[in-house]
Amino acid sequence: MNQKSFNANDIVGWVARRKFLFGGFLATVGAAYGVFASYALKFVFPAPKPPRRIRVFLGFSDQIRPGASKAVNLPTGDQLLISNTGKINPVTGNTFIAFSNSCPHLGCKVHWEARREEFVCPCHGGVFTAGGVAVAGPPAQSGSNLKPYEILVEGNSIYAVVEEV
Ligand code: FES
Repeated sequence: MNQKSFNANDIVGWVARRKFLFGGFLATVGAAYGVFASYALKFVFPAPKPPRRIRVFLGFSDQIRPGASKAVNLPTGDQLLISNTGKINPVTGNTFIAFSNSCPHLGCKVHWEARREEFVCPCHGGVFTAGGVAVAGPPAQSGSNLKPYEILVEGNSIYAVVEEV
């Protein structure tokens, strides 16, 4: 008769295998809970989406003659001043520049002075270059420039590219 006998080494090996398998089981369950928890956290606290960029029609290029400018209300609540400098910008390939017309000092409305090729704030003498850089008045003292806007000229149409609110 073939009778199987166990000795102490068999029992120690059996216990070791059981511990190893149980450890593997715990590791698998832990990993599964970890994956589930990461998805649950992403669902509860989703990552903020980057703001969508939209185009806002500003006008037709032949309606803003060289030296002229036009104020346009944006969906963001800001007001933009699109100006035609009459000089082609080698970077953009067009003659238009766009900045917020809100003075960074106390918020008065700046205007474009074509003859001087500067933006001027009527309240406290703030002056800005065609690049929006403050060169005189309180904005220059504090180093506060005009907020620039990206513009896009397609054919005869001019658009501002802004972040949707
Ligand atoms: S508000 Fe423009 S300079 Fe003061």
